[in-house]
Amino acid sequence: MSTHSPNRTLLLGQTLSFCGNPFEQDPATTIRHESHGAVLIENGHVAWLGPASEVGDRKIDVPVIDHGEALIMAGFVDCHTHFPQTDIIASYGEELLTWLETYTFPQEMRFDNPAFARDSADFFLDQCLCNGTTTASVFGTVHPQSVDALFIAASKRNLRMAAGKTCMDRNAPQGLIDTAQTAYDQSKSLIETWHQNGRNIYAITPRFAPTSTPEQLEALGALWGEYPTALMQTHLSENLAEIAWVRELFPGHRDYFDVYESFGLTGAGSVFGHAIHLEPREATALAGSGSAIAHCPTSNAFIGSGHFNIDTARTAGIHTGLATDIGAGSSFSMFATMKAAYEAAHHHQVSLHPAQAFWLATLGGAKALRLNDVIGNLAVGYEADLIVVDLASTRLIGRRCANAEDFIDILFAQMILADDRAIKQTWSAGECVYDRHLTAG
Ligand code: GUN
Ligand code: ZN
Repeated sequence: MSTHSPNRTLLLGQTLSFCGNPFEQDPATTIRHESHGAVLIENGHVAWLGPASEVGDRKIDVPVIDHGEALIMAGFVDCHTHFPQTDIIASYGEELLTWLETYTFPQEMRFDNPAFARDSADFFLDQCLCNGTTTASVFGTVHPQSVDALFIAASKRNLRMAAGKTCMDRNAPQGLIDTAQTAYDQSKSLIETWHQNGRNIYAITPRFAPTSTPEQLEALGALWGEYPTALMQTHLSENLAEIAWVRELFPGHRDYFDVYESFGLTGAGSVFGHAIHLEPREATALAGSGSAIAHCPTSNAFIGSGHFNIDTARTAGIHTGLATDIGAGSSFSMFATMKAAYEAAHHHQVSLHPAQAFWLATLGGAKALRLNDVIGNLAVGYEADLIVVDLASTRLIGRRCANAEDFIDILFAQMILADDRAIKQTWSAGECVYDRHLTAG
């Protein structure tokens, strides 16, 4: 006789899911919206989804949580961020290279202290959850214990997180420097410990070409060859001075992306932060290789890097996700990030459709991380990483949405006006891991 009953919950509310890619077809047709919807969660997965009127017997003996007018959707996916930089968010006055020297490197030095790393990782993940972000691809510092701290904190919350030790063997302070060999050895040991352990995923992480020697990039390319299911994350063509520096440091390469290509660091599962100032050849090569871009619009605006052209990515066919890039990015909120993406697109005479913005913030990021079959959408069989969004979280938003033309317009108002106050609950693998009324953010 089995006494084990499946762990089930039925959530009621409005629901949002995607049934197509809004960059490939009329965006409005890719959204499935139920104004009185239901989501049955069973053993951490979405078991059924549909109109509440069709729930029928499925609700027998199942706890029901009625969220009323609130919107149930997939948790946000932040496909590029740096947890050790949480405490230097909103640092004044510098562009990329001097920002790194002035604020970032001194802060990252503090992560040689494992207790500090653990406290930071806990705080960072709590910020993700109160902002509705259930998955992120996270840079650690050079210290392996920073990655241990992040994965321990993620495992405690049963989150699907990707992370890696940031490798640098030149052009950084002595305390943050490894070597080609120690980068390889320590990354390998972290992969053995953490990759696909529970919901964790390892991302091989050379910081960017200027802080790695060719030998280190080669070692990390070889490591990825040994563990092809791991991810690879780095930065690309964020800032004009950075690009000029890469040309000096790597003479003989066609362009910045070619540096990564020549060391086996491109292809499906590779995620390049920023990629604002691409040569036409780089865009073609990114697309052809199946590599992905992490679009980091608050960061690009905040440290004055430029405005990413989402249309370049779309026309070239490059996988693209959305990312906060904390701490050059200025918000943990994917609403703020969608707003900044909308504004960045306008610099290129493109109006980012709300369906496109919400897709980038969920399935787009999941696809960049090769997770789009398990997370990033509210769909049967998917892991139940969900958020419940209060669509009237401030009086202004409530008033604006009372005047909305349709559901798409409500989504647009949310992405322009909402923040962490709109996140009513966050669920990870079928468990509520954040509740606005129970937790101080
Ligand atoms: N390029 C190399 N390192 C970094 C970093 O930490 N943040 C950003 N935004 N760009 C980088
Ligand atoms: Zn970054």
